[in-house]
Formats: sequence, C-alpha cells, structure tokens
Amino acid sequence: MGNIWVRKSLKTLEAEAAVSDSPAAGALHLKRSLSALNLVALGVGGIVGAGIFVLTGHAAAANAGPAVSLSFMLGAIACAFAGLCYAEMAAAVPVSGSAYTYAYAAIGEFVAWIIGWDLILEYAVGAVTVAIGWSGYFNSLLADFGLHLPAAFTSAPLAYDAATRTWALTGAVINVPAMAIIVAITGLLVLGIQESARFNVVIVAIKLTVIALFIAFAVTKVSPANWVTSTNPNGDFIPPNAGTGVFGWSGVLRGAAVVFFAFIGFDAVSTAAQEAKNPQRDMPIGILGSLAICTVLYVAVAFVLTGIVPYDRLNVPDPIAIGIDAAGIGWLSPIVKLGIVMGLTSVILVLLLGQSRVFRAMAHDGLLPNSAATTHPRFRTPYIASIAVGVVVCVLAGLLPIGLVGELVSIGTLFAFAVVCIGVLAMRVKHPEQNRPFRAPAIWFVAPAGALVSLILMLGLPLDTWIRLAVWLAIGLVIYAVYGRRHSKAGKVA
Ligand code: ALA
Repeated sequence: MGNIWVRKSLKTLEAEAAVSDSPAAGALHLKRSLSALNLVALGVGGIVGAGIFVLTGHAAAANAGPAVSLSFMLGAIACAFAGLCYAEMAAAVPVSGSAYTYAYAAIGEFVAWIIGWDLILEYAVGAVTVAIGWSGYFNSLLADFGLHLPAAFTSAPLAYDAATRTWALTGAVINVPAMAIIVAITGLLVLGIQESARFNVVIVAIKLTVIALFIAFAVTKVSPANWVTSTNPNGDFIPPNAGTGVFGWSGVLRGAAVVFFAFIGFDAVSTAAQEAKNPQRDMPIGILGSLAICTVLYVAVAFVLTGIVPYDRLNVPDPIAIGIDAAGIGWLSPIVKLGIVMGLTSVILVLLLGQSRVFRAMAHDGLLPNSAATTHPRFRTPYIASIAVGVVVCVLAGLLPIGLVGELVSIGTLFAFAVVCIGVLAMRVKHPEQNRPFRAPAIWFVAPAGALVSLILMLGLPLDTWIRLAVWLAIGLVIYAVYGRRHSKAGKVA
C-alpha cells in the first residue's frame, strides 16, 4: 500500500505530457489535433449556457437588481484569479487531468484523489444540470412549433425547490429529452476529438451570433429608467439592502455567487491539454481568452436585459424570452431559443469531455480501474471512460431535479479552484526551476486572492449544499481507502 502523500515528480509529468507526441505511441494515445481557436471555442462552448440564459434573471430579481452586471464583473474577477493559475499550470503541466493532476504534482496523491473525486461534481453533475435545462428549452421550442411531448416523459419524477429547500413528487416518470441529449453527445465524444471540436466550433459560432443579435436589437430599446427606478425607491443602481444577500452590496455579492455558475467551464479547456497541438502556448490562450470573451458578453447581456425589463420581473426560468417580449422583438424569439438549445448542447459536450479526460488520468495513475484509461484503437478517444460517464449522467439527468444539482456543481468547482490556486503557489515555492511557458502575474497576490475568493463564494452557499459536498467527499474517501490507495502506481514506486 502506498504513501498517501506521494507526489508526482516533474519528470513523470513531462514524460506523460510528451508521450502522446511520440510517433511510437501510436493508437494508444490521445490525438493532438486541437488548435488555439479550438481551445478558445471549447472554453466558450463550456462557459456560455444555463448561467447566462437562466440565472441572470434570478440574480437580478432576488439579489442584485440592475446591479447584476456588477455581480457578473465580480464573478469574472474571482474567476480571473483562478483562470490565471489554471493557465500557468496547464502550460507547465499539459496533462489531461486538470486540477487533479496539478494537485498530484503540487500537494500529493491524497489531495489529488479528493480533487479528482470533487471534479465529478463540476463535470458530471454539471452535465446533468445543463441537460435538464436543455430539456426545458427544447420542450419550449417544440411547443412554439405546436409539438407537445407527453408531460410524463419530459421532466423528473422529483422536484426540488431551492428557495424553500423542499422536495415534491411531480407525477412525471422520467426526463427523456435530457437523457437523449446525453446519449447523442456521448456518441460524438466516442467518435473523435476532432469531430467533437469541429461540432463545437459550429455551435459556438451560432450561440455567439444569437447573443450578439439579442444585444444589438435589444440595446436600442433600453430605457435607462429601468436601471435606477422600477421598485427601487431611492433611484439607485443598487437597490437598498433588504437583508443579507437581498440587494445592497451584500446582494451584489450573493448575486456574484449565484452567477458564478455561468463562468464554470473555462477550466475544462485544461482537460484537453494532451489533445492540444501546442499546449504550452495555447492552453493560456484557450483558458484566458474564453474567459475574457464571456465576461464581456455577460456584462453586456446583463446591462441590456435590466435596461429593457424592470429587474423585479426577471425571476423566471427564461429571462431572455421576457427581455425579447419587452423589447418588442418577438420575431427573434425562436431564433434565440434555438441558439440557447445549441448553446446548452456545447456546454454538455465540454463538461462530458472534461469528465472522461479526468477519469482517464486517474485510471492511468491506478486510482481508478485501468479500463477507464483505455484509448479506442481507431477513434483514439478514451471511449470506455466516455461511455461509463455517459451512462451514469444519462440516468441522473432523467431522474434528478435541476434545483438540487446546480449548487453542488458550484461548490465542487469552487473547491477545485481553491486547490489549484494553492497548488500553483506551492509549485512556485517547491519547484522554482520548473519551465513555465506562462507565468501568472503577481502570484503572491493572485493565488491567495483566488483561493480566498473561492472560499468566500463557497461560504455564500447554503448549509445543506455543504453537507452534500461533505457526504460526497466521504464516499470518495472510502473508495480511495478500498481501491485507489491499493492500486496507486505512484504509491508503489515510492
Ligand atoms: N457555465 C455553464 C453554464 O452556464 C456551466 O451552463
């Protein structure tokens, strides 16, 4: 049985990163085919989704008012710290395990396992969350064309009200569209990284066009009065505080925690490090480029939306649709809905891609069964990991309610961000000699600030979400004790 604090040496990591370049590696290894554009598109594909299309309205109505655009700016700053740390690690350690691999190098196997297990919350549970949202928009799009799927098969049997934290039976049987989209995307991911990336670029282009159309047409209908009036008696941009997290600056902060979900996904770029043509140069471009593009779009959408609709009317599952109606541009509605369905599709694609790559890296290290590291001889994709992830995510997407899973995704991601920020600092101290093609600026400020901001946003989430995180990590510890620790390759060598 191995030492749980064993770390991966830089030499091992370099060898792992280099092996997929070697012609001798042949079919056993992942294919290096992703360009910088593909990586930026992967980031944007993973970022722009349910967060901007759904949560913006809730955060405006319940937390920040018209100042939800400030919440987006705060969320972006928090992510920028973590993004800089991810960029440094992804360029220096271009191995597909992302935060899991960085923790293995910087802190040790035990923490790496915890983060690998935690990343399931971000990627697999994230894909479950977005698939449920996808189903909602898909059904509503069909309804616009007069097509109605049977209600019993378009939503989960359980509902969860995140506001009152209560469960209820819906009378439905299973969410078939949510399951179907997972099956389709899993199939694509098995077929090839290049095919998946090409599909993603097309979808990302469509969703960016749709957002640009919305901004361009809606901006002409903005009434600045909405930014300062509606139910806002003082006429301030930030409505007066009405309790912790309800308007005022504390509301802007709580709003940032809510819309944080909208930024999740830029880090998934790092899971494609072993499939990038030039990871040292392109990883930082993919991670930071996609984050920058999405920040600009988000702030613009938030400004425009709260400029055309009084913020207290935005607490709906489809705030963009409300904005379109208010702006009198109803003809844009089906186009925008289609764009949103497409947009959510690429988020699912990127999250599932990330999950299979993290599992592959963990299996490669012996912490999960070896079959999860197997690469398909023809498609050169980790097909067993992809199919296993697809099956589990498909079942959960059919059964779970969206209110339950969304916050789990955020807390899991924030935890991984904090560890990566700490890890990047630990690597600077322990391995100053390491080759760093990209260096995060002011690391003694950026890394602690990234970890601190992540922790503060985690503290903004409710107690029961913390308890679910703790239960999830405890299950992970048992699996590590029973399996990972005994099969770890690094542990045996050490
Ligand atoms: N950022 C992704 C979304 O908003 C997870 O859907």
